[in-house]
Amino acid sequence: EKGGYDHFMLKEIHEQPRAITDTLRGRLLVDEAIIKLSGLENNMKRFLNAERIIIVACGTSWHAGLVGEYIFEDFVRIPVEVEYASEFRYRNPVITERDVVIAISQSGETADTLAAIKLARSKGAFVFGICNVVGSSITRENDSGAYTHAGPEIGVASTKAFTTQITVLLMMALRLARAKGTMSSADYRMNLQELQLIPSKMEQLLSIDENIKEIAREYMLSTNCLYLGRGYNFPVALEGALKLKEISYIHAEGYPAAEMKHGPIALIDDRMPVIVIATSKGHYEKVVSNIQEIKSRKGKIIAIVTEGDTTVKDIADHTIEIPEVSEAFTPLLTTIPLQLLSYHIAVMRNCNVDQPRNLAKSVTVE
Ligand code: F6R
Repeated sequence: EKGGYDHFMLKEIHEQPRAITDTLRGRLLVDEAIIKLSGLENNMKRFLNAERIIIVACGTSWHAGLVGEYIFEDFVRIPVEVEYASEFRYRNPVITERDVVIAISQSGETADTLAAIKLARSKGAFVFGICNVVGSSITRENDSGAYTHAGPEIGVASTKAFTTQITVLLMMALRLARAKGTMSSADYRMNLQELQLIPSKMEQLLSIDENIKEIAREYMLSTNCLYLGRGYNFPVALEGALKLKEISYIHAEGYPAAEMKHGPIALIDDRMPVIVIATSKGHYEKVVSNIQEIKSRKGKIIAIVTEGDTTVKDIADHTIEIPEVSEAFTPLLTTIPLQLLSYHIAVMRNCNVDQPRNLAKSVTVE
């Protein structure tokens, strides 16, 4: 059942190229330059008339929503708010009929997300669900939606659900960008091609597992860890930190890299590993200067860089390379080494990777 892997989590990490291919199947038609998501197509007017998009979710799905904010604002030029479902529903939020709410949930059973959907619909908003489990409660409460088609996710720590959620968000934003005319047809076609190539680039990335294991061995006894990223990769830093804390029980925090000097930098000493996402697109020089600041305080640096990088390589203690992609697609790749790093550290610490203490796969109580 684990397909030869020691844990479901590792199996599911390695399934991601396949899962994304399934998410794209029949929807991304590169030759025709078409994206076909019937749940979106059938409600195009609601999306085109939307004054803003509110994304509601919890945990890892909320991190996917944050990536969605960057994607939608960038591609579709529409304001996006990303909300923890639990805060949104109890805040007396301002919701109107011109809002489109996107609810993201792997299980489709998360109580707070479900309640947020009901609240939004009662105020006249249009609710679109991105779920993995077919026929789950959330899929029945939505106005419309799209499945991620990641296949069953058994490991409690979410992996392939996250990257397939981002894949659906990318497809939605690309389709809407064409419909609204916020993206040139040349850029649109280029993006479709990039999306098509993601599974094979992921496959390539997954083959460096041994390298990540060595890094894991060096840091398995850490008590704290800091994750930094900017722009599209700020949410990936949050997700990397969440993966580490939930399965290895090491305290970890994710931060936008530029916020480091507003507090977290005080934590840095020679026992603090800092995982920095420093891909070549998107504020690269600024992240490099953050890396220098960490180095001069003797922090240990594990950097995720783009293939061929030399600048960061010279400074960092370890570098992990990802294949070149344009910025909006980087989260799909930068996530992979962070999942593997958490996995190996947790295994080395003898933690129950697939069923971490105190956690349940779906949180059906608030
Ligand atoms: C983290 C994790 C949780 C879930 C959260 C939302 O690895 O699995 O943070 O992401 O409980 O669950 P869904 O997506 O089922 O609504």
